[in-house]
Amino acid sequence: MTKFADIKGFVFDLDGVITDTSILHGTAWHQLADYLDVAWSDELANGLKGISRMDSLEMILKAGGKENDYTQAQKVELATKKNTNYVAEVDKMTPANILPGMKAFLDDLRAKGYQLSLASASKNAPRVLDKLQLADYFPKVVDPASLTHGKPDPEIYTKGAQLLNLPPAQCIGVEDAAAGVQAINAAGEVSLGIGDATELGAADMVFADTADVTLANIAKKLG
Ligand code: BG6
Ligand code: MG
Repeated sequence: MTKFADIKGFVFDLDGVITDTSILHGTAWHQLADYLDVAWSDELANGLKGISRMDSLEMILKAGGKENDYTQAQKVELATKKNTNYVAEVDKMTPANILPGMKAFLDDLRAKGYQLSLASASKNAPRVLDKLQLADYFPKVVDPASLTHGKPDPEIYTKGAQLLNLPPAQCIGVEDAAAGVQAINAAGEVSLGIGDATELGAADMVFADTADVTLANIAKKLG
């Protein structure tokens, strides 16, 4: 088991971890589900967290039994419709949208020499980082367009550690989604979940709130 002293880097998810864009993604998908006449539920909403744009659309269509009703071109159009609504909300964001404690945590990590990379499934991640004025913290971002498989596949977290030139076991992956925790675990990194302890039960450690995520608290849990 990895000890706190072995940790050299952090691989961050973005939506729902650094900022609450998971709510904005959820609202935009909910709107599209209504348009498609697919019933919305908390279970569907949670299952979409961390899932790529096209995989999310497929999950929604499947939930409504409509997976064979659209051509690929129509699916791209539907996903674009959702993205246009989402981006309009992102463009209203400011640094005030950083979740509690996260700026201080990133500052502390940087001051103590930890390496940081971003492993977000979102193609809008650079835009969100820019709005939050956090782009400087993440010169190393995994390009989701380069991935063969999305979360829960480990690929994005494996690449996140590679960008830092660190073995996965020396990295902590930070996630709010069950699919993301699964990806971190499969990549051989230490998984830190933020949110509901039952939903994120597979994580090595879970914090209920971003404000609780500090190096001191992580050290306590890792030993
Ligand atoms: C993930 C979000 O980070 O990115 C998902 O949790 C989202 O909800 C996915 O669907 C893809 O985002 P985008 O911005 O490329 O559509
Ligand atoms: Mg997330």
